[in-house]
Amino acid sequence: MDMKVSFGGLSLKNPILTASGTFGYGLEYTRFGELATLGGIVVKGLSLEPRVGNPMPRIAETPSGMLNAIGLQNIGVRNFVEKRLPKLPADQMAVIANLYACSAEEFAELAGYLSEQPGVAALEVNISCPNVSSGGILFGQDPKMAARVTEAVKRRAGDKPVIIKLSPNVTDITEIARAAAGAGADILCLINTLSGMAVDARTRRPRLANVIGGLSGPAIKPVALRCVHQVSRAVDVPIIGVGGIASAEDVLEFILVGAHAIQVGTANFIRPDFVFRLVDELERLCEAYGITSFDEYRGSLRL
Ligand SMILES: Cc1cc2nc3c(=O)[nH]c(=O)nc-3n(C[C@H](O)[C@H](O)[C@H](O)COP(=O)(O)O)c2cc1C
Repeated sequence: MDMKVSFGGLSLKNPILTASGTFGYGLEYTRFGELATLGGIVVKGLSLEPRVGNPMPRIAETPSGMLNAIGLQNIGVRNFVEKRLPKLPADQMAVIANLYACSAEEFAELAGYLSEQPGVAALEVNISCPNVSSGGILFGQDPKMAARVTEAVKRRAGDKPVIIKLSPNVTDITEIARAAAGAGADILCLINTLSGMAVDARTRRPRLANVIGGLSGPAIKPVALRCVHQVSRAVDVPIIGVGGIASAEDVLEFILVGAHAIQVGTANFIRPDFVFRLVDELERLCEAYGITSFDEYRGSLRL
């Protein structure tokens, strides 16, 4: 089976990507598998200047998923481009830069700088982070703001495809999807984490120093599937699905409801070699189910 997928100006050797914030800058995982076997990686959210993130504790496990409030700790975009990007096999898989900023202007500046880097295949714009006090999710909850950021990034992105990453923490995700699509997004990525919290009944303390964090992992898969299903019917822009993917069967479910590619997030923490093995597992499952083309299978959900 031909595992290649092409959509929104992006060509991948297979539809498997890693999700931002769960795979470092890629190099951290090279002892678990060959990066070049993946369709690509999305690196940790990059800001103009390095960020230290939120105070600890920043991770809490719940019975059904993981809560995090990292607060977009990162080494800054210039450090990434100078010290990490040259070590990645960008000629063999897609390196997607994930962007975080506090204003449309800052997003545009990041896009302008990254658009000049040949090793970067696409820009993923995080307008959906629930764990920072400024920027982040505020852009992703207001259609006008989502459109403004999308336009600003598109203007400076050159020929790099622009992926807008949406939040599920809204009343109607199709409204934000339409705004981003109307403003020129090449691809939409959904979903980011769901806002949540965990508390300790004995100590009477929240389990995260930030109190509120983002829920990820298998618990959010049904929400993510619902979002991909709704958005794929609302807009004519390709979608990358993410949320709780932990098996090849999960990947097919996302493609079935309309995704062109998927990202693996929290599963990387549980089994660091999982995403590398997923490529073969997906190919085998396609054979077992008689799927010979992703283009034919995509969106073929029988309602
Ligand atoms: C520890 C952690 C850090 C994350 N950091 C980012 C980030 O920097 N930028 C971003 O767009 N999403 C970030 N995310 C969200 C993931 O990319 C993904 O959208 C989410 O975790 C859902 O997928 P999953 O259930 O497979 O983990 C982060 C998630 C986790 C768990």
